[in-house]
Amino acid sequence: MSPHLTAITGQVRLRRKLCKALFFIDIQPDNEPKSQVFFRTDDGSLGIVDFQESFRACRPGSVITVQVFPPNDPSEQEVVPYTSRIAFVQDRALGGSTIREDVVEIKPANRNESTPCKYWINKNKCERGDECSFQHPTGKAFDTARVKWLEEREKNRKIATHDPEDPHTSKKPHGLRAIIFVEWIRRTFADQLNNGGGVLDVAGGKGEISMVLSRGFGIPSIVVEPKTRKLPNYWFSRLRRLMLRFEANQEPDWKSKDVQQALQHWPCDVAPTYLHTMLDDQFLEDHVELLKTVSLFVGLHSDQATIPIVDAALKAGKAFAVVPCCVFSHDNRSRQLRNGELVTTTEQQIQYILEKDTRGHGGQIQTDYLDFEGKNRVVYWIPDK
Ligand SMILES: C[S@@+](CC[C@H](N)C(=O)[O-])C[C@H]1O[C@@H](n2cnc3c(N)ncnc32)[C@H](O)[C@@H]1O
Repeated sequence: MSPHLTAITGQVRLRRKLCKALFFIDIQPDNEPKSQVFFRTDDGSLGIVDFQESFRACRPGSVITVQVFPPNDPSEQEVVPYTSRIAFVQDRALGGSTIREDVVEIKPANRNESTPCKYWINKNKCERGDECSFQHPTGKAFDTARVKWLEEREKNRKIATHDPEDPHTSKKPHGLRAIIFVEWIRRTFADQLNNGGGVLDVAGGKGEISMVLSRGFGIPSIVVEPKTRKLPNYWFSRLRRLMLRFEANQEPDWKSKDVQQALQHWPCDVAPTYLHTMLDDQFLEDHVELLKTVSLFVGLHSDQATIPIVDAALKAGKAFAVVPCCVFSHDNRSRQLRNGELVTTTEQQIQYILEKDTRGHGGQIQTDYLDFEGKNRVVYWIPDK
Protein backbone atom coordinates (compact mmCIF):
# COMPACT_ATOMS: atom_id res chain seq x y z
CA MET A 1 0.00 0.00 0.00
CA SER A 2 1.31 3.47 -0.84
CA PRO A 3 2.74 5.57 2.03
CA HIS A 4 0.87 8.63 0.60
CA LEU A 5 -2.56 7.02 0.86
CA THR A 6 -5.26 9.51 1.74
CA ALA A 7 -9.07 9.49 1.62
CA ILE A 8 -11.37 11.96 -0.13
CA THR A 9 -15.09 12.08 0.56
CA GLY A 10 -17.26 14.03 -1.83
CA GLN A 11 -19.86 14.01 -4.58
CA VAL A 12 -18.99 12.56 -7.98
CA ARG A 13 -19.58 15.49 -10.34
CA LEU A 14 -18.26 13.83 -13.52
CA ARG A 15 -17.28 10.29 -14.51
CA ARG A 16 -15.65 9.50 -17.83
CA LYS A 17 -14.16 6.28 -19.23
CA LEU A 18 -11.22 6.98 -21.50
CA CYS A 19 -10.49 3.38 -22.46
CA LYS A 20 -10.97 -0.13 -21.07
CA ALA A 21 -8.11 0.38 -18.64
CA LEU A 22 -8.73 3.94 -17.44
CA PHE A 23 -11.52 6.14 -16.14
CA PHE A 24 -11.54 9.30 -14.08
CA ILE A 25 -13.93 11.19 -11.87
CA ASP A 26 -14.19 14.79 -10.71
CA ILE A 27 -15.02 14.66 -7.02
CA GLN A 28 -16.35 17.63 -5.03
CA PRO A 29 -15.71 17.46 -1.26
CA ASP A 30 -17.60 19.82 1.11
CA ASN A 31 -15.75 23.14 1.51
CA GLU A 32 -12.73 22.06 -0.54
CA PRO A 33 -11.74 22.41 -4.17
CA LYS A 34 -12.72 19.73 -6.66
CA SER A 35 -10.19 16.93 -7.35
CA GLN A 36 -9.70 14.64 -10.30
CA VAL A 37 -9.06 10.97 -9.49
CA PHE A 38 -7.92 8.36 -12.01
CA PHE A 39 -8.76 4.66 -11.77
CA ARG A 40 -6.59 2.38 -13.87
CA THR A 41 -5.51 -1.19 -14.48
CA ASP A 42 -2.66 -0.48 -16.93
CA ASP A 43 -0.12 0.29 -14.18
CA GLY A 44 -1.27 -2.50 -11.86
CA SER A 45 -2.81 -0.12 -9.32
CA LEU A 46 -6.20 -1.85 -9.70
CA GLY A 47 -7.26 -5.32 -10.84
CA ILE A 48 -10.02 -5.65 -13.45
CA VAL A 49 -12.69 -6.63 -10.87
CA ASP A 50 -11.91 -3.67 -8.56
CA PHE A 51 -11.75 -1.40 -11.59
CA GLN A 52 -15.21 -2.44 -12.78
CA GLU A 53 -16.71 -2.27 -9.30
CA SER A 54 -15.19 1.19 -8.76
CA PHE A 55 -16.71 2.35 -12.06
CA ARG A 56 -20.14 1.17 -10.93
CA ALA A 57 -19.74 2.76 -7.46
CA CYS A 58 -18.69 6.14 -8.90
CA ARG A 59 -22.12 7.02 -10.27
CA PRO A 60 -22.38 10.74 -11.03
CA GLY A 61 -24.22 12.40 -8.14
CA SER A 62 -23.26 9.76 -5.54
CA VAL A 63 -21.30 10.77 -2.45
CA ILE A 64 -18.34 8.43 -2.07
CA THR A 65 -15.15 7.98 -0.11
CA VAL A 66 -12.16 7.08 -2.21
CA GLN A 67 -8.64 6.15 -1.12
CA VAL A 68 -6.15 7.92 -3.37
CA PHE A 69 -2.41 7.85 -3.88
CA PRO A 70 0.02 9.34 -6.41
CA PRO A 71 0.69 7.49 -9.70
CA ASN A 72 2.81 4.34 -9.41
CA ASP A 73 5.17 5.73 -12.05
CA PRO A 74 6.77 8.87 -10.48
CA SER A 75 7.48 10.34 -13.95
CA GLU A 76 3.71 10.72 -14.44
CA GLN A 77 3.72 13.40 -11.72
CA GLU A 78 6.09 15.64 -13.64
CA VAL A 79 3.77 18.37 -14.90
CA VAL A 80 5.09 21.31 -16.89
CA PRO A 81 2.53 24.08 -16.39
CA TYR A 82 1.42 26.29 -19.33
CA THR A 83 2.48 29.81 -18.37
CA SER A 84 2.05 31.82 -21.58
CA ARG A 85 -0.31 34.82 -21.39
CA ILE A 86 -1.84 33.77 -24.73
CA ALA A 87 -4.80 31.43 -24.20
CA PHE A 88 -3.99 27.86 -25.21
CA VAL A 89 -6.10 26.62 -28.14
CA GLN A 90 -7.00 22.96 -27.62
CA ASP A 91 -6.79 20.32 -30.38
CA ARG A 92 -9.96 18.79 -31.73
CA ALA A 93 -10.90 15.44 -30.17
CA LEU A 94 -9.49 12.51 -32.15
CA GLY A 95 -12.22 10.93 -34.27
CA GLY A 96 -14.53 13.89 -33.55
CA SER A 97 -16.65 15.27 -36.36
CA THR A 98 -16.66 18.73 -37.82
CA ILE A 99 -19.77 20.33 -39.22
CA ARG A 100 -19.78 22.70 -42.18
CA GLU A 101 -20.19 26.31 -41.05
CA ASP A 102 -22.97 26.93 -43.59
CA VAL A 103 -25.27 24.28 -42.13
CA VAL A 104 -24.74 25.03 -38.45
CA GLU A 105 -26.57 27.67 -36.52
CA ILE A 106 -24.39 28.73 -33.59
CA LYS A 107 -26.65 30.38 -31.02
CA PRO A 108 -25.12 31.54 -27.73
CA ALA A 109 -21.85 33.39 -27.96
CA ASN A 110 -20.06 31.06 -25.58
CA ARG A 111 -20.11 28.15 -28.07
CA ASN A 112 -16.43 28.09 -28.82
CA GLU A 113 -16.20 24.67 -30.57
CA SER A 114 -17.37 23.68 -34.02
CA THR A 115 -18.25 20.18 -32.78
CA PRO A 116 -21.92 19.42 -32.15
CA CYS A 117 -22.97 18.32 -28.65
CA LYS A 118 -23.47 14.55 -28.64
CA TYR A 119 -26.31 14.72 -26.08
CA TRP A 120 -28.13 17.31 -28.16
CA ILE A 121 -27.66 15.39 -31.40
CA ASN A 122 -28.61 12.08 -29.81
CA LYS A 123 -31.48 13.01 -27.47
CA ASN A 124 -32.41 16.49 -28.69
CA LYS A 125 -31.65 17.86 -25.23
CA CYS A 126 -28.58 18.74 -23.20
CA GLU A 127 -28.55 19.17 -19.41
CA ARG A 128 -25.96 21.94 -19.70
CA GLY A 129 -28.18 24.12 -21.88
CA ASP A 130 -26.50 27.39 -22.78
CA GLU A 131 -23.49 26.48 -20.61
CA CYS A 132 -22.55 23.73 -23.07
CA SER A 133 -19.49 24.61 -25.09
CA PHE A 134 -20.54 22.42 -28.03
CA GLN A 135 -23.03 23.27 -30.74
CA HIS A 136 -26.80 22.86 -30.39
CA PRO A 137 -27.95 23.16 -34.02
CA THR A 138 -31.67 23.46 -34.78
CA GLY A 139 -33.97 22.90 -37.78
CA LYS A 140 -32.32 21.75 -40.97
CA ALA A 141 -28.88 22.13 -39.41
CA PHE A 142 -29.90 19.65 -36.70
CA ASP A 143 -30.99 17.06 -39.30
CA THR A 144 -27.76 17.46 -41.24
CA ALA A 145 -25.60 17.27 -38.11
CA ARG A 146 -27.49 14.19 -36.88
CA VAL A 147 -27.06 12.30 -40.19
CA LYS A 148 -23.37 13.14 -40.19
CA TRP A 149 -22.97 12.16 -36.54
CA LEU A 150 -24.70 8.79 -37.12
CA GLU A 151 -22.49 8.10 -40.16
CA GLU A 152 -19.39 8.93 -38.17
CA ARG A 153 -20.49 6.73 -35.24
CA GLU A 154 -21.17 3.81 -37.62
CA LYS A 155 -17.77 4.30 -39.26
CA ASN A 156 -16.01 4.34 -35.87
CA ARG A 157 -17.99 1.30 -34.70
CA LYS A 158 -16.86 -0.62 -37.78
CA ILE A 159 -13.23 0.33 -37.18
CA ALA A 160 -13.48 -0.62 -33.48
CA THR A 161 -15.15 -3.99 -34.16
CA HIS A 162 -13.10 -4.93 -37.22
CA ASP A 163 -12.00 -8.56 -37.06
CA PRO A 164 -9.24 -9.44 -39.55
CA GLU A 165 -10.33 -13.12 -39.51
CA ASP A 166 -13.86 -12.28 -40.64
CA PRO A 167 -14.17 -13.18 -44.35
CA HIS A 168 -17.33 -11.08 -44.84
CA THR A 169 -16.32 -7.63 -45.95
CA SER A 170 -19.59 -6.17 -47.21
CA LYS A 171 -22.09 -7.58 -44.73
CA LYS A 172 -25.86 -7.84 -44.84
CA PRO A 173 -28.03 -5.70 -42.54
CA HIS A 174 -28.42 -6.63 -38.87
CA GLY A 175 -32.19 -7.03 -39.40
CA LEU A 176 -31.54 -10.16 -41.48
CA ARG A 177 -29.54 -11.89 -38.73
CA ALA A 178 -32.17 -14.52 -37.81
CA ILE A 179 -32.69 -15.51 -41.46
CA ILE A 180 -28.94 -15.68 -42.14
CA PHE A 181 -28.42 -17.73 -38.98
CA VAL A 182 -31.17 -20.17 -40.03
CA GLU A 183 -29.58 -20.64 -43.45
CA TRP A 184 -26.24 -21.39 -41.76
CA ILE A 185 -27.93 -23.78 -39.27
CA ARG A 186 -29.58 -25.74 -42.11
CA ARG A 187 -26.23 -26.12 -43.89
CA THR A 188 -24.16 -26.94 -40.81
CA PHE A 189 -26.54 -29.29 -38.99
CA ALA A 190 -28.16 -30.99 -42.00
CA ASP A 191 -27.58 -34.47 -40.50
CA GLN A 192 -29.12 -33.61 -37.13
CA LEU A 193 -32.12 -31.86 -38.70
CA ASN A 194 -32.73 -34.45 -41.44
CA ASN A 195 -33.14 -37.09 -38.75
CA GLY A 196 -36.25 -35.24 -37.59
CA GLY A 197 -34.62 -33.57 -34.63
CA GLY A 198 -36.12 -30.30 -33.45
CA VAL A 199 -34.37 -27.09 -32.44
CA LEU A 200 -34.42 -25.43 -29.00
CA ASP A 201 -34.26 -21.69 -29.76
CA VAL A 202 -33.15 -20.33 -26.39
CA ALA A 203 -33.51 -16.63 -25.53
CA GLY A 204 -35.44 -16.40 -28.76
CA GLY A 205 -37.17 -13.06 -28.08
CA LYS A 206 -40.20 -12.93 -30.36
CA GLY A 207 -39.11 -16.15 -32.02
CA GLU A 208 -37.82 -15.06 -35.43
CA ILE A 209 -35.46 -18.02 -35.74
CA SER A 210 -38.18 -20.52 -34.80
CA MET A 211 -40.68 -18.93 -37.15
CA VAL A 212 -38.27 -19.15 -40.11
CA LEU A 213 -37.17 -22.70 -39.21
CA SER A 214 -40.67 -24.08 -38.75
CA ARG A 215 -42.99 -22.12 -41.06
CA GLY A 216 -40.21 -21.51 -43.59
CA PHE A 217 -38.60 -24.97 -43.69
CA GLY A 218 -40.80 -27.36 -41.69
CA ILE A 219 -38.18 -27.83 -38.95
CA PRO A 220 -39.93 -28.06 -35.54
CA SER A 221 -38.62 -25.39 -33.21
CA ILE A 222 -39.31 -24.43 -29.60
CA VAL A 223 -38.69 -20.90 -28.32
CA VAL A 224 -37.47 -20.79 -24.71
CA GLU A 225 -37.94 -17.18 -23.65
CA PRO A 226 -39.06 -15.90 -20.23
CA LYS A 227 -40.59 -12.69 -21.60
CA THR A 228 -43.95 -12.80 -23.36
CA ARG A 229 -43.93 -10.50 -26.36
CA LYS A 230 -46.72 -9.27 -28.59
CA LEU A 231 -46.64 -10.74 -32.10
CA PRO A 232 -48.65 -8.28 -34.19
CA ASN A 233 -49.57 -9.10 -37.78
CA TYR A 234 -47.01 -6.68 -39.14
CA TRP A 235 -44.26 -8.66 -37.36
CA PHE A 236 -45.20 -11.77 -39.40
CA SER A 237 -45.47 -9.88 -42.69
CA ARG A 238 -42.18 -8.05 -42.12
CA LEU A 239 -40.43 -11.37 -41.47
CA ARG A 240 -41.97 -12.97 -44.57
CA ARG A 241 -40.92 -9.96 -46.64
CA LEU A 242 -37.35 -10.19 -45.29
CA MET A 243 -37.28 -13.90 -46.17
CA LEU A 244 -38.39 -13.26 -49.74
CA ARG A 245 -35.85 -10.48 -50.15
CA PHE A 246 -33.10 -12.71 -48.77
CA GLU A 247 -34.07 -15.64 -51.03
CA ALA A 248 -34.21 -13.43 -54.13
CA ASN A 249 -30.86 -11.87 -53.16
CA GLN A 250 -32.30 -8.54 -54.37
CA GLU A 251 -35.39 -6.38 -53.99
CA PRO A 252 -38.26 -8.53 -55.37
CA ASP A 253 -40.90 -7.01 -57.62
CA TRP A 254 -43.45 -6.53 -54.79
CA LYS A 255 -46.25 -5.81 -57.30
CA SER A 256 -45.87 -9.09 -59.16
CA LYS A 257 -48.69 -11.62 -58.63
CA ASP A 258 -46.31 -14.43 -57.61
CA VAL A 259 -44.55 -12.30 -55.04
CA GLN A 260 -47.89 -11.02 -53.69
CA GLN A 261 -49.06 -14.62 -53.30
CA ALA A 262 -45.82 -15.70 -51.63
CA LEU A 263 -46.20 -12.80 -49.18
CA GLN A 264 -49.59 -14.14 -48.04
CA HIS A 265 -48.37 -17.67 -47.38
CA TRP A 266 -45.67 -19.43 -45.44
CA PRO A 267 -44.24 -22.52 -47.17
CA CYS A 268 -44.85 -24.97 -44.28
CA ASP A 269 -47.62 -25.76 -41.81
CA VAL A 270 -45.33 -26.50 -38.87
CA ALA A 271 -45.82 -23.80 -36.21
CA PRO A 272 -43.22 -22.86 -33.60
CA THR A 273 -44.04 -23.51 -29.95
CA TYR A 274 -43.26 -21.16 -27.07
CA LEU A 275 -42.14 -21.98 -23.53
CA HIS A 276 -42.09 -18.82 -21.43
CA THR A 277 -39.42 -19.86 -19.01
CA MET A 278 -35.66 -19.62 -18.41
CA LEU A 279 -33.16 -22.19 -19.56
CA ASP A 280 -31.53 -23.41 -16.34
CA ASP A 281 -30.87 -26.69 -14.52
CA GLN A 282 -34.53 -26.88 -13.44
CA PHE A 283 -35.61 -26.62 -17.10
CA LEU A 284 -33.51 -29.66 -17.98
CA GLU A 285 -35.13 -31.64 -15.14
CA ASP A 286 -38.68 -30.51 -16.00
CA HIS A 287 -38.49 -31.21 -19.75
CA VAL A 288 -36.78 -34.57 -20.08
CA GLU A 289 -39.31 -35.92 -22.61
CA LEU A 290 -39.29 -32.76 -24.72
CA LEU A 291 -35.49 -32.74 -24.85
CA LYS A 292 -35.55 -36.21 -26.40
CA THR A 293 -37.17 -34.61 -29.48
CA VAL A 294 -34.49 -31.92 -29.75
CA SER A 295 -31.18 -32.38 -31.55
CA LEU A 296 -29.83 -28.83 -31.51
CA PHE A 297 -29.69 -25.91 -29.02
CA VAL A 298 -29.27 -22.43 -30.54
CA GLY A 299 -28.91 -18.94 -29.12
CA LEU A 300 -28.58 -15.77 -31.17
CA HIS A 301 -27.35 -12.80 -29.10
CA SER A 302 -28.71 -14.74 -26.18
CA ASP A 303 -27.36 -12.48 -23.39
CA GLN A 304 -27.20 -14.28 -19.99
CA ALA A 305 -28.41 -17.54 -21.58
CA THR A 306 -25.30 -18.08 -23.75
CA ILE A 307 -23.19 -20.11 -21.32
CA PRO A 308 -26.21 -22.03 -19.91
CA ILE A 309 -27.04 -23.09 -23.51
CA VAL A 310 -23.52 -24.41 -24.04
CA ASP A 311 -23.42 -26.16 -20.67
CA ALA A 312 -26.87 -27.70 -21.08
CA ALA A 313 -26.12 -28.93 -24.62
CA LEU A 314 -22.77 -30.43 -23.59
CA LYS A 315 -24.40 -32.11 -20.60
CA ALA A 316 -27.15 -33.57 -22.78
CA GLY A 317 -24.74 -34.48 -25.60
CA LYS A 318 -26.69 -32.32 -28.10
CA ALA A 319 -25.28 -30.09 -30.83
CA PHE A 320 -25.25 -26.34 -30.16
CA ALA A 321 -24.66 -23.05 -31.97
CA VAL A 322 -24.47 -19.73 -30.11
CA VAL A 323 -23.68 -16.23 -31.34
CA PRO A 324 -22.37 -14.45 -28.23
CA CYS A 325 -22.79 -10.71 -27.70
CA CYS A 326 -23.02 -9.14 -24.20
CA VAL A 327 -20.99 -10.82 -21.46
CA PHE A 328 -22.47 -9.73 -18.07
CA SER A 329 -19.06 -10.19 -16.44
CA HIS A 330 -20.09 -8.54 -13.13
CA ASP A 331 -22.65 -11.35 -12.59
CA ASN A 332 -20.16 -14.07 -13.53
CA ARG A 333 -16.90 -13.42 -11.69
CA SER A 334 -16.09 -17.15 -11.63
CA ARG A 335 -15.72 -17.32 -15.42
CA GLN A 336 -12.02 -17.30 -16.16
CA LEU A 337 -9.88 -18.45 -19.06
CA ARG A 338 -7.22 -21.11 -18.61
CA ASN A 339 -4.61 -18.33 -18.57
CA GLY A 340 -6.37 -16.77 -15.55
CA GLU A 341 -7.98 -13.84 -17.41
CA LEU A 342 -11.46 -12.88 -16.31
CA VAL A 343 -14.10 -13.18 -19.06
CA THR A 344 -15.09 -9.56 -19.75
CA THR A 345 -15.29 -9.30 -23.57
CA THR A 346 -17.18 -11.18 -26.28
CA GLU A 347 -13.87 -12.52 -27.63
CA GLN A 348 -12.97 -13.87 -24.19
CA GLN A 349 -16.43 -15.40 -23.87
CA ILE A 350 -15.87 -17.19 -27.19
CA GLN A 351 -12.49 -18.43 -25.95
CA TYR A 352 -14.16 -19.53 -22.69
CA ILE A 353 -16.60 -21.69 -24.68
CA LEU A 354 -13.78 -23.08 -26.85
CA GLU A 355 -11.97 -24.16 -23.68
CA LYS A 356 -14.94 -26.27 -22.52
CA ASP A 357 -14.33 -29.97 -22.11
CA THR A 358 -16.02 -32.08 -24.81
CA ARG A 359 -14.43 -35.38 -23.80
CA GLY A 360 -16.97 -38.17 -23.65
CA HIS A 361 -18.94 -36.90 -26.66
CA GLY A 362 -16.02 -36.17 -28.99
CA GLY A 363 -15.96 -33.42 -31.60
CA GLN A 364 -14.17 -30.09 -31.40
CA ILE A 365 -15.96 -26.87 -30.55
CA GLN A 366 -15.52 -24.63 -33.60
CA THR A 367 -16.27 -21.09 -34.77
CA ASP A 368 -17.49 -19.51 -37.98
CA TYR A 369 -18.55 -16.03 -39.14
CA LEU A 370 -22.09 -15.16 -40.22
CA ASP A 371 -22.67 -12.65 -42.99
CA PHE A 372 -24.40 -9.83 -41.07
CA GLU A 373 -23.48 -6.57 -39.33
CA GLY A 374 -22.83 -6.66 -35.58
CA LYS A 375 -21.65 -9.54 -33.40
CA ASN A 376 -21.49 -12.32 -35.98
CA ARG A 377 -19.10 -15.01 -34.73
CA VAL A 378 -20.89 -18.28 -34.11
CA VAL A 379 -19.49 -20.93 -31.76
CA TYR A 380 -20.79 -24.42 -32.43
CA TRP A 381 -20.36 -28.07 -31.64
CA ILE A 382 -21.42 -31.27 -33.36
CA PRO A 383 -21.15 -34.31 -31.09
CA ASP A 384 -19.90 -37.63 -32.46
CA LYS A 385 -22.78 -39.90 -33.38
C1 LIG B 1 -30.88 -9.66 -26.81
S1 LIG B 1 -32.31 -10.65 -26.62
C2 LIG B 1 -32.13 -11.67 -28.03
C3 LIG B 1 -33.42 -12.04 -28.66
C4 LIG B 1 -33.30 -12.76 -29.99
N1 LIG B 1 -32.50 -13.97 -29.91
C5 LIG B 1 -32.78 -11.84 -31.08
O1 LIG B 1 -31.63 -12.01 -31.50
O2 LIG B 1 -33.49 -10.93 -31.47
C6 LIG B 1 -31.85 -11.68 -25.27
C7 LIG B 1 -33.00 -12.47 -24.69
O3 LIG B 1 -32.47 -13.42 -23.77
C8 LIG B 1 -33.49 -13.74 -22.85
N2 LIG B 1 -32.86 -14.50 -21.76
C9 LIG B 1 -31.94 -14.09 -20.88
N3 LIG B 1 -31.57 -15.11 -20.06
C10 LIG B 1 -32.27 -16.19 -20.45
C11 LIG B 1 -32.30 -17.56 -20.01
N4 LIG B 1 -31.55 -18.03 -19.01
N5 LIG B 1 -33.13 -18.42 -20.66
C12 LIG B 1 -33.90 -17.98 -21.69
N6 LIG B 1 -33.89 -16.71 -22.15
C13 LIG B 1 -33.09 -15.82 -21.53
C14 LIG B 1 -34.04 -12.36 -22.50
O4 LIG B 1 -35.35 -12.44 -21.99
C15 LIG B 1 -33.99 -11.66 -23.87
O5 LIG B 1 -35.24 -11.69 -24.51
